[in-house]
Parts: sequence; structure tokens; C-alpha cells
Amino acid sequence: MGHTRYHAVTIGWTQEEGRQVGAFITFEGPEGAGKSTVARRIATRLSGIGHRVILTREPGGTPIGDQIRHILLAHHNVDMTPEAEILLFSASRAQLVRQVIRPALAEGTIVLCDRYADSTLAYQGYGRGLDVHLLRRITAFATDDLRPDLTVLLDVPPEVGLARRRQASQAGKEWNRLDSEELDFYRRVRAGYLALAQEEPARWRVVDAAGPLDSVVDEVWQLVRASLQAQGLKLAGVTGR
Ligand SMILES: Nc1ncnc2c1ncn2[C@@H]1O[C@H](COP(=O)(O)OP(=O)(O)OP(=O)(O)O)[C@@H](O)[C@H]1O
Ligand SMILES: [Mg+2]
Repeated sequence: MGHTRYHAVTIGWTQEEGRQVGAFITFEGPEGAGKSTVARRIATRLSGIGHRVILTREPGGTPIGDQIRHILLAHHNVDMTPEAEILLFSASRAQLVRQVIRPALAEGTIVLCDRYADSTLAYQGYGRGLDVHLLRRITAFATDDLRPDLTVLLDVPPEVGLARRRQASQAGKEWNRLDSEELDFYRRVRAGYLALAQEEPARWRVVDAAGPLDSVVDEVWQLVRASLQAQGLKLAGVTGR
């Protein structure tokens, strides 16, 4: 392989002679919606039925992206401008697309990404009020226009997501700069996500993520399977979980 994967761990392998084009699935939603948890469980299920899968995340997913992630999440960077923030996210994304996602897709791997370009539109655009058209152009440049085949929006009221995060943080998980934003900001982000989903219904699926984790995972699983089938990706063990 011509690249090394960091964070993007290969957790499955398929023997089937499927198309040599993978599927690109992204998970979006506010903090505490369950993106990381659900994406991990979906990755496990997909590899469990014989698919080659990588799970990666934004910002990060490459050595350069991880250094950028550190800058973005550091407590002491409270004076970061929205413009600097969007360019840093975009830099991390540009690296991830070219170093990890495109090569994996070319090998027929299913790529699951925990946040992607839509996070920029929702957070920096709808949340912080930057020009969404400009953000789309920056994002198209950063991603080389690579768009997901399926984007799952885990939709929860901000209060629910933040409460989950707070609980997780008390249990010893990371607590970062982005968590201390005001509630109104998160309401705008949520509305932004829903607007994006409405604009492009063929790509987006909105899942009510306020319910129990197991039901959320099951619902997302059905959506992922339907999307892979629609794409013509041969599914091993379609009837299995
Ligand atoms: N449906 C659910 N019901 C109850 N708890 C949940 C549910 N989904 C996730 N959680 C819990 O909420 C916390 C946050 O979940 P997770 O880290 O997956 O969210 P996230 O969307 O990745 O958040 P962030 O944007 O902050 O990374 C975790 O402790 C997780 O176990
Ligand atoms: Mg997460």
C-alpha cells in the first residue's frame, strides 16, 4: 500500500469479488449525538459480515490532521477566529481525503467517517454565521469534491447531546474547547443540519438519536444496508445482523 493509515484502522476484510469501488458513509450531528459510538458499532457489524471497513474521524485521521486537531481542540486557543478555524478544519480534511479516504475507496473499502464536510457547513456556516456559499467552495477545494454516498444525521436536541457529553466527561473522557459554546449556537447548528438534509434528501438520512442506543444502531444499520444495496455493493450475509 502506498500510504500508512493512522487512526483509520482496517478492521475487516472481504474475500468477495465486489466492485473495486467502496462506499463512503459519514456520520453527522451535534456533540453527544452518538456519532462515534454508532459509527464504531456499524463498522463492527460491517466487518462482521465480511466487508473491508475503515473508520476514521475529523478533524484528524492522519498524522498531520491529528496535529491540526490538537490546535482546534486546545482550551487555550479561545481567541481563534472563525476564518482560521474553517481553514484548519479544511486542511485536516484535505489531508484525510487524499491520504486515507480516496485510496481506501479505490481498493473497494467501505469508509466510515465520524464528521466530514457537512460539519463545516453546520458549525461554521449555520452556527457561526459564515457565508455558506463560500464555505461550500472552500470545502469543494479541500475535498477535491469527494461527497459521501450516504450521510447519517444523528439528530438530538442540544440539551440531550450536551448532557450525554457532560456525563461522559465526568466519567473521564475528553472535555474540550468546543464544549463550552452556548446553547443557542447548538440550536443553530441543529437547524443547519436539518436544512442541509432537506436540501439533499438522496444523500441524507435523519435518525432520531434521542432514543436508546441499541435502537439507534439498528435503525442506522438498516439505512446503511439499504444504501450499500442501492449502490450495488454486494452484501455478504444480507440477512444477518
Ligand atoms: N442513544 C444513546 N442513548 C444514551 N446514551 C448514548 C446514546 N448514544 C450515545 N450515548 C452516550 O453518549 C456519549 C456521547 O456519545 P458519542 O461520543 O458517541 O457522541 P458523539 O456524537 O461522537 O459526540 P462528539 O461530537 O462530542 O464526539 C457516550 O458516553 C455514549 O455512550
Ligand atoms: Mg465523537
